[in-house]
Amino acid sequence: MGALDGRIAVITGAGRGIGREHALLFAKEGAKIVVNDLGGAADGEGADATPAQQVVNEIKALGGEAVANYDDIADWEGGQRLINTAIETFGDIHVLVNNAGILRDRVIANMTAEEWDAVIRVHLRGHFVPTRWAAAYWREQAKSGKTVNASIINTSSTSGLLSNPGQSNYGAAKTGIATFTEIIDKELRKYGVRANAIAPAALTRLTAPLGGRLSEKPEGFDKGDPGNISPMVAYLAMADCPIHGKAFFVYGGEVHLFQPYTIVDKVAVDHRWSVSELKAAADKWGDIEWNQSIPM
Ligand SMILES: NC(=O)c1ccc[n+]([C@@H]2O[C@H](COP(=O)([O-])OP(=O)(O)OC[C@H]3O[C@@H](n4cnc5c(N)ncnc54)[C@H](O)[C@@H]3O)[C@@H](O)[C@H]2O)c1
Repeated sequence: MGALDGRIAVITGAGRGIGREHALLFAKEGAKIVVNDLGGAADGEGADATPAQQVVNEIKALGGEAVANYDDIADWEGGQRLINTAIETFGDIHVLVNNAGILRDRVIANMTAEEWDAVIRVHLRGHFVPTRWAAAYWREQAKSGKTVNASIINTSSTSGLLSNPGQSNYGAAKTGIATFTEIIDKELRKYGVRANAIAPAALTRLTAPLGGRLSEKPEGFDKGDPGNISPMVAYLAMADCPIHGKAFFVYGGEVHLFQPYTIVDKVAVDHRWSVSELKAAADKWGDIEWNQSIPM
């Protein structure tokens, strides 16, 4: 018995890195998979069918069921084709893992409009488009009386949630994805759909140039192995997983639960503030430093 027996899953950006590990583990756990990957470079340039096809071949060689899709997940029709590939090939869709991503890091004073737009497009729109088509399908199923038990797993990042300098485009998209996750979870629960987000840390072509702890080659348990991220995603994809609307930092053998933006203090008067009154009341917030250290 696999944890995902009978589940049909679409995984975006599953030709390489973390997404590839998700696809291999999902297949091992009994899921049928649509392996999506545009196959571009780390900055999003170009396209290549090879990565997605290779993962499909690997899954089939292990006795699993998978089909490749090479669409750009941020493209409106491409996203619809992706979701339809699951429905037309396997008859349904139960799990959507939004994982595909690119990087174009730059300090804000040097960032170009193209660098900003490309990253926001692939991550934020690239989460929105497949989710939108899957959500419309699940709503239709629920309204026609079928029982829907679906799970969306989105991919955020500590670069956004814990705000990493040099990544304002990527971080803004990744924090947006975390909030997007909470909102769609609230919207779609009535149709039988849960949504959660992970913020992974693993050594892939996106993080290799950054060096640091992920690049260390320890003996024994390799905490930076991208395969360490996938069990939490598979768990969130299970039909009987009770978790919804949450975000988790996942690294090595650790899973940390985030709390979303929350109000922690207030000042108030029972009339319109004067600016000098506000200065007297609010200057205390100038001393606050949030704990935004990454736990690794
Ligand atoms: N590696 C980390 O430590 C880390 C940390 C935080 C967040 N993430 C996020 O995890 C996800 C996976 O990253 P990774 O490290 O495995 O990177 P990766 O580059 O190894 O894999 C990403 C895959 O997404 C594909 N892709 C990119 N744009 C696409 C598009 N428009 N349509 C379809 N496919 C597309 C790429 O071709 C690539 O195969 C990304 O969303 C990334 O931002 C990774």
